[in-house]
Amino acid sequence: MKKVVILWSSPNKDGLTASAKNQFVHGLAEKGVQVEEIHLNSKKLEHCRACGNGWGSCNKTGSCVIGDDFSEIYHSLTEADGIVWISAVYWAEMTECFKAFFDRLRRCDAAHNHFLAGKRCVLIACAGGTGGGALECLQQMERGLTHMRMRAYDRISVVRYNREYILPALITAGETYAERLETGFDMYY
Ligand SMILES: Cc1cc2nc3c(=O)[nH]c(=O)nc-3n(C[C@H](O)[C@H](O)[C@H](O)COP(=O)(O)O)c2cc1C
Repeated sequence: MKKVVILWSSPNKDGLTASAKNQFVHGLAEKGVQVEEIHLNSKKLEHCRACGNGWGSCNKTGSCVIGDDFSEIYHSLTEADGIVWISAVYWAEMTECFKAFFDRLRRCDAAHNHFLAGKRCVLIACAGGTGGGALECLQQMERGLTHMRMRAYDRISVVRYNREYILPALITAGETYAERLETGFDMYY
């Protein structure tokens, strides 16, 4: 059985981001995938301190000096077959909670461990205001993913104007991702 970790961030447990997450999880569950949902806003996650000379000890050890929930979440990601990154869009970027985790993950994984290299991910940005900024948020996610040598299988923009047709499609997206995890990804790179 394949395992997928859903990393998601929004303070609203019944908002647009949560709806998008639930739909994708629904699709994964239809295909029998084991899902672990991690709600980053509920976790204790400090910001990177950029310690030492700026590179920090993570550059040499692959672990972070801060003793909060970071390591446990990182460990879950290393064991996952697939990872889905879902964030509300704030200021055309991922949320601050998401960024706090993402920054530290990138340092440990890209600079030292490479545990996540090769994983194929789905990126979902939920912009509930004007809808502007979703693409920038997806780009921000993908840039970090690239540093960690992961790959985006899809990048999905959810806005309040497309929710009527995107939310139902997210079930199919979850099902399709689950199938690709089983049978291989139809990508040329
Ligand atoms: C600080 C802040 C910044 C935001 N920036 C944007 C933005 O750049 N573009 C946008 O469309 N919506 C923006 N929004 C609206 C959020 O994307 C909106 O709350 C969205 O629905 C988040 O999903 P939720 O329902 O899970 O909260 C912002 C909201 C906050 C609180």
